[in-house]
Amino acid sequence: MEKKNFKFSSASTDLVTGASFSQLSKYSDKSASILITDEHIYDAHKTKFRGWNTIILKPGEEYKIQGTADSIIDQLIEFEADRKTTLVGIGGGVVTDITGYVAAVYMRGIRFGFVPTSVLGLVDASIGGKNGIDVKMYKNMVGVIRQPSFILHDLAFLKSLPERQWRNGFAEIIKHACIMDAAMFRELEKNDLAFYMKNKKGLSDLIRRNAMLKIKLVQKDEFENGDRKLLNFGHTLGHALENQYELMHGEAISIGMMAAAHFSRELNGFNQAARIAGILDRYGLPAYGHFDVNKIMPVLKMDKKRERKTLSYILLEKIGKAVIRNLELKTIDKFIRSLS
Ligand SMILES: NC(=O)c1ccc[n+]([C@@H]2O[C@H](COP(=O)([O-])OP(=O)(O)OC[C@H]3O[C@@H](n4cnc5c(N)ncnc54)[C@H](O)[C@@H]3O)[C@@H](O)[C@H]2O)c1
Repeated sequence: MEKKNFKFSSASTDLVTGASFSQLSKYSDKSASILITDEHIYDAHKTKFRGWNTIILKPGEEYKIQGTADSIIDQLIEFEADRKTTLVGIGGGVVTDITGYVAAVYMRGIRFGFVPTSVLGLVDASIGGKNGIDVKMYKNMVGVIRQPSFILHDLAFLKSLPERQWRNGFAEIIKHACIMDAAMFRELEKNDLAFYMKNKKGLSDLIRRNAMLKIKLVQKDEFENGDRKLLNFGHTLGHALENQYELMHGEAISIGMMAAAHFSRELNGFNQAARIAGILDRYGLPAYGHFDVNKIMPVLKMDKKRERKTLSYILLEKIGKAVIRNLELKTIDKFIRSLS
């Protein structure tokens, strides 16, 4: 087990890696905690929850909505949760996002922590304090930036994670490699998903490295005025695709990353798009997809990174180095039309 503390503007987070769920009571007093998880995780790991007050959500992005937050708040009132209560989200990004959001508004803000159980949760969603809900087709339209008190990694949860969800999480790992870690990109090119699913040490090192990459970036720019935007690589088109088509987040952003790689070739002279296509293929992720631009563009224009007629788009200069470019919506529209 290794514990590191990271300071943010108004709070600090303990990142506890190589841990076991049984150590949770060190970070959150059992008598003053309420765990929030979903049915898949609860069913696969029931014994872990014994003795803890637990709220169990229906799984899936369609439940990352205000109605679920309201029902959590009702249950918190039933549990007589007060300002000294800690909420602990145990799950993938849906569970941790909604837990952090409810913790920010219940009694004007209570303490919270996370035990991420999906690869995507471990390397991305649990980190950085952005927590919120979707509104209709608009992802993460309502939310807060507020840091968890702790993030505890127990990789034993991954035993029950479906393979499709592993691929989903590796899309974010590939994203981190593309934007800020060329050496990790090369490591990923040498291995494949089966290697990490079997090799505990390789996996835990990779997850820790990715968690640290994201934490360091967020520490530099917690409120996304600059470099944190780099994490949106592949997400502008990705989010729009995800909301209009039956795609997983990881699949949608993979198509978005590939599109951004081509866009980078046009605007930045980036010439490594084939390596990105290759790595996506190695991890069972799509590089291309058919879509209707007329369905995508209206959603894309609602992107939170839009400022009037421009949108900050993340492009690559080279593998391991991304840049932020403010592009006219009409330029983006023209480029996306050229892809489909
Ligand atoms: N807050 C952030 O900065 C941030 C960053 C990236 C993504 N996100 C959000 O995260 C969400 C996606 O995260 P996700 O892919 O983890 O989604 P998720 O929480 O829906 O989990 C995916 C599926 O895997 C199941 N699952 C999770 N862990 C499991 C386990 N150990 N065993 C068995 N089943 C398990 C879940 O029940 C669910 O069915 C999206 O809502 C996205 O917006 C947030």
